[in-house]
Amino acid sequence: MGKKDLYILGIESSCDDTGAAVIYNGKMLSNVVAGQKIHEAYGGVVPELASRAHQQNIVPVVHQALLRANIDKKQLSAIAFTNGPGLMGSLLVGTSFAKSMAMSLDIPLIAVNHMQAHILAHFIEDENQQIPPFPFICLTISGGHTQLVKVTDYFDFEILGETTDDAVGEAFDKTAKILGLPYPGGPLVDKYAQLGNPDAFSFSKPKVGDLEFSFSGLKTGILYFIQKKLRENPQFIEENLPDICASVQRTIVEILIEKIHNAVKQTGITHIAIAGGVSANSEIRKTLKAAEALYGWHTYIPKFEFTTDNAAMIGIVGYLKYLHHSFSDQSVTARARMSVDE
Ligand code: KG4
Ligand code: ZN
Repeated sequence: MGKKDLYILGIESSCDDTGAAVIYNGKMLSNVVAGQKIHEAYGGVVPELASRAHQQNIVPVVHQALLRANIDKKQLSAIAFTNGPGLMGSLLVGTSFAKSMAMSLDIPLIAVNHMQAHILAHFIEDENQQIPPFPFICLTISGGHTQLVKVTDYFDFEILGETTDDAVGEAFDKTAKILGLPYPGGPLVDKYAQLGNPDAFSFSKPKVGDLEFSFSGLKTGILYFIQKKLRENPQFIEENLPDICASVQRTIVEILIEKIHNAVKQTGITHIAIAGGVSANSEIRKTLKAAEALYGWHTYIPKFEFTTDNAAMIGIVGYLKYLHHSFSDQSVTARARMSVDE
């Protein structure tokens, strides 16, 4: 035997998904996520409602995660939780829950940086998934972030470049909003795009530094394009929805791939991972897979369930931090702002 059996409970509550998961020696035993439909009606996440929903969901979600892992809470070795970045009211629910549960069970508490967790989700052991070797480059693309990160070790991150304005997830969600699709629109743009022609319309790409991103100009470009087309034909969106989605999606994916090229050129690193909610996008997944043969890159595409916010990614960081003896004490607090390298 030798090695200690480590059962880590991961808790995620940074935005609008309440998650709990059990990681056993690096493998996932359970991963439960309760989404919050309530925000759909508002076209975006309403912080007060998110916080209240987390309070309602957290006990049953944690209970389910233990049940599905088929373990008792007394078997847990540590509790890992997201302490930032995210919405303060949401973070506070997970933080205070984790602190009191760790205290009552008298086991270690491990604070986890949500941005690191998106990246380190690649280290959840799974026979069908390849684990990236160090150093690798991770393109983190979510609703709040767009950044190229050089990962030299488990807890050694360097931001190579990031967005100067909107995140790529926002570009998807705002495009969807312009098209009259509900929030969050990213998955819907992806869905319609699969039926459309990506060369139907063209949108101009931002002019920023080699490793920087910018999506606010693209969003405005799309808005003006749609307004102009609607003046000519009020049915323009209904008649062209798949083509519009495919064209926008193609533009965004081309921007992302171009930035990866620049990062490869600058660092010489050809192991490329993607992470975050937008890495669920079918076009980016397909394009990155094809890049292996086209450019000789080694690409690491997360399993679907580890792309958008989830607690398994928090649990794996908890496990890695446990091995590094990196624990938190009861004075740890939630932090709305936090960089990936903290
Ligand atoms: O990582 P995540 O769940 O939450 C944040 O930490 O932000 O990312 C959510 C974002 C949303 O903007 C959502 O529209 C986008 O990921 N997203 C997608 C897809 N699935 C989720 N965007 C494009 N295509 C998808 N299939
Ligand atoms: Zn996230």
